[in-house]
Amino acid sequence: MKLAVTGKGGSGKTTTSAVLARTLARRGHDVVALDCDSNPNLGISLGVGDDETERLVSMRQALDEGEEEHAPGWDQVLQRFGSDAPDGVRLAVVSRIDNPEPGCL
Ligand SMILES: Nc1ncnc2c1ncn2[C@@H]1O[C@H](COP(=O)(O)OP(=O)(O)OP(=O)(O)O)[C@@H](O)[C@H]1O
Ligand SMILES: [Mg+2]
Repeated sequence: MKLAVTGKGGSGKTTTSAVLARTLARRGHDVVALDCDSNPNLGISLGVGDDETERLVSMRQALDEGEEEHAPGWDQVLQRFGSDAPDGVRLAVVSRIDNPEPGCL
C-alpha cells in the first residue's frame, strides 16, 4: 500500500504523515516514510531527533546542490538517505528523480 499526504502549507501534512507511519508500524506493517517536502522535517514529527533530522536535511541539500550522487535504486535511497525512526519506521528524505523510467512518477 502506498499513501501520499499532500495539502496546502500548514494544513497538517507532516503531523498526519508521522501519525500514520507510526500507527501502521505499531500494528505490524513494514513502513517506509519518504519525506519529499522542500523543507524536510518529518524526522522531527517521527521522533528521530533534531540532530538526525538535520543530518538528513544536509544530505538532501548536498544532493540538490550536486555534491551528492543520486542513489540508483530504492534500497540505496533508504540506506544512504535514511534513518531508523521509533516504532520500526524507516525514514528517508528524497529529492527529484533523475532519468525516471516511464510511469515512475
Ligand atoms: N489535527 C490537528 N489539529 C490541530 N493542530 C494540528 C493538527 N495537525 C497539525 N496541527 C498543527 O498545525 C501546525 C502545522 O502542522 P504541520 O507542520 O504538520 O503542517 P504541514 O502541512 O506539514 O506544514 P508545512 O506546509 O509548513 O510543511 C503544527 O503546529 C501542528 O502541530
Ligand atoms: Mg510539513
